[in-house]
Amino acid sequence: DWTPGHFIDLEVAKIRELVGDKQVICGLSGGVDSSVAAALVHKAIGDQLTCIFVDTGLLRLHEREQVERTMRAHLGIKLITVRAEDRFLNGLAGEGDPEKKRKIIGHTFIDVFEDASAEAGQGAEFLVQGTLYPDVIESVSAKGGPSATIKTHHNVGGLKPDMKFRLIEPLRELFKDEVRNVGRELGLPEEMVGRHPFPGPGLAIRVLGEVTPYAVDILRRADAIYLEEIRAAGLYQEIWQAFAVFLPVRSVGVMGDGRTYEHVIALRAVTSTDGMTADWFSFPHDVLGRISNRIINEVDGVNRVVYDISSKPPATIEWE
Ligand code: XMP
Repeated sequence: DWTPGHFIDLEVAKIRELVGDKQVICGLSGGVDSSVAAALVHKAIGDQLTCIFVDTGLLRLHEREQVERTMRAHLGIKLITVRAEDRFLNGLAGEGDPEKKRKIIGHTFIDVFEDASAEAGQGAEFLVQGTLYPDVIESVSAKGGPSATIKTHHNVGGLKPDMKFRLIEPLRELFKDEVRNVGRELGLPEEMVGRHPFPGPGLAIRVLGEVTPYAVDILRRADAIYLEEIRAAGLYQEIWQAFAVFLPVRSVGVMGDGRTYEHVIALRAVTSTDGMTADWFSFPHDVLGRISNRIINEVDGVNRVVYDISSKPPATIEWE
């Protein structure tokens, strides 16, 4: 008879006992998991927790402002924002391999945390991560043995071996729907709890291949239009996750009398209960049509939009 309230009581007691009077930091990603993990730890130890939100340059449109508003204003959590766009983008420059991209991002995250916590002069000993059960099993099965690597989740497998923090992962045994209920019980606003999952590596794994500022900018604008139209159609809550993907190919188009040769945006939307399996979402055609028209008309550099009709398995939800 698992209940969110009971879970919270148990975890709060465990976290207090573990942490004592030490300082704790938490990296917020803008997603549901790290927000719920932060709110839970904040309930346990209050101002001993400092959240660090890194602007990786790989966030969605207006995401930093949203996180700052919710965590600071709504929850009263101590929050430091670090602008590290250049560090991430420079680190990723020239790298096209999905696993290497994840590793670079994971390492850069930890470097930035260490710098930020040292700067804040708190000498934090613990690091909170919003790791969920599906992250844990996918990474464990990736550790060798006959089962093939699925992918390295940056928040589990990508940590540096010499990392100086001890980890607190209070959501390690939970599935997403349980995490959402814990978040509601903790008083997080529905707009945050009901949010689609967003991967730690952010838009970097949705720009296929090499990540350039140009591609991230196109993707960010296409993605914002996509989500705006999904919300306007009242479909946001029916979908587990929806996002745009920037493809590293160009295709021929026509505009007026001229030929264009521009980028392709793929749209992904899936239903799921835990992210382990997923079905592609069946949009009304008029909604898809509106989304496509708006992206092609409003985002320079895009002349074609395609919709992904693959389920998981065998496809994954993300494209990298
Ligand atoms: P896949 O693509 O493996 O995704 O079907 C399953 C769920 O996990 C999210 N995801 C990640 N989350 N770091 C994260 O924090 C990652 O590296 C990562 N990769 C995938 C994905 O968005 C989906 O919700």
